[in-house]
Amino acid sequence: MFPYNRVCATRPDNAWSRPEPMSSSQDSRLWGGRFREPTDAFVAEFTASVDFDSRLYHHDIRGSIAHANMLRAVGVLDEAEHKAVVDGLAAIEGEIERGEFAWDPALEDVHMNIEARLTTLVGDAGKKLHTARSRNDQVATDTRLWLRDQIDAVVDQLTDVLANLLNLAAQHTETPMPGFTHLQPAQPITFAHHLLAWFEMALRDRERFQECRRRVNVSPLGSAALAGTSFPVDRAMTAAELGFDRPAANALDAVSDRDFAIEFCAVASLTAVHLSRWCEELVLWVSPQWGFVTLPDAYCTGSSIMPQKKNPDVPELVRGKAGRVIGNLNALLVLMKGQPLAYNRDNQEDKQPLFDTADTLRGCLRAMGDIIAAMRPHPQTMRAAAERGFATATDLADYLVRKGLPFRDAHAVVARVVEHAAAAEVGLAEVPMTTLRQLCGRIGQDVYGVLALEGSLAARDHVGGTAPRATRAAIESARRRLQAGDRGGETR
Ligand code: ARG
Repeated sequence: MFPYNRVCATRPDNAWSRPEPMSSSQDSRLWGGRFREPTDAFVAEFTASVDFDSRLYHHDIRGSIAHANMLRAVGVLDEAEHKAVVDGLAAIEGEIERGEFAWDPALEDVHMNIEARLTTLVGDAGKKLHTARSRNDQVATDTRLWLRDQIDAVVDQLTDVLANLLNLAAQHTETPMPGFTHLQPAQPITFAHHLLAWFEMALRDRERFQECRRRVNVSPLGSAALAGTSFPVDRAMTAAELGFDRPAANALDAVSDRDFAIEFCAVASLTAVHLSRWCEELVLWVSPQWGFVTLPDAYCTGSSIMPQKKNPDVPELVRGKAGRVIGNLNALLVLMKGQPLAYNRDNQEDKQPLFDTADTLRGCLRAMGDIIAAMRPHPQTMRAAAERGFATATDLADYLVRKGLPFRDAHAVVARVVEHAAAAEVGLAEVPMTTLRQLCGRIGQDVYGVLALEGSLAARDHVGGTAPRATRAAIESARRRLQAGDRGGETR
């Protein structure tokens, strides 16, 4: 699923302890002009990022082609140079994709690896590509292009998760289950009502990613190092070619802004927190003590010592991975804190947390989509659980209020009914009429409709309520909002 997942490139444990000086004949530094000594071997390795930023190659090449097209349009490259650069970049992309490209850590990063190779392939035209550009606007451009693709993929995955939730909910608008507060049975709800709560959380997450995308989709290209460039660049042209909404308004900000990456990680963290909550519920639901759902075998593991076990490892891992996603957000916030304008090398450290966040979140969303599509609910067990724990006590209180009792008095009467039912080890609907009438003379035969699960559910028949009729309407509205949001429309 993630072919370029090299977030944590392996490095031997003793890598930092054996420095080998670089000879000047090996000097391949593209910026080495004023340097009389070779870079210390340790420093070269310490500062290199190609281990992890090589995964930006496709977006780096896209950005370079757009830049070359613009340089041609404004007359910095002639036609032959332009053709050599564009063909050379296409050839390099082919080499990388076929695994033939020799990444060289001495060339630091993805940008200089590709540029050096271009110059090898096409000569001086390759050296002209960096006119009116800096690695500062280049890396910001690449990262935004890459992240935009990731956001689109995440939004698609969230859309699948949301659709799966609605499909499952549609089958369970009449399935009672206990609703909880403080993890104590509170009031009966339908399983659909619960799934629709998950839906609302994830729909807000999708909106947040869509909003984040708007701030990601701005072009730093042409900002050069920090001040702009003395060449007559056409920033609107490169922005349009790369599908950006507009050029970034201020060059100084554009090369140092990593808000877009932090915002993505913040939205991802909130999404991961939501998924961790769902997964905690799944872990409870699949335990034999609850037995509300069964997960597909393919999503569980057994125990090497306890043959009866079927462990919900995937939900547990999704729950755990929230920690790592939140950690990445924290890493980026601290990375940026106190940085003066504009680009500082600190910013090279943005990539691993960002890449890892996207990879981790996409893995989690894939797992959740599959689990929701394949899990098997057990309506009888849910119903039995809803019948325990006196979950219709509030309905009895509401009933007494309708019979004219003030709510606080009704609350006290119900407490005594519950006491009685608990002592007799029966449900509220099984307490005999004589007992009920001893506790409150206003109670009549019609109370049993109220104490039954169906009566309790049907009574909450308004927008947002758990009644089967309201829930069916909610699913219809949810489907419309899911589709409207697909087109970037209003989803509330
Ligand atoms: N590898 C660098 C990064 O990821 C690219 C930008 C370097 N710019 C510079 N002026 N050293 O941030």
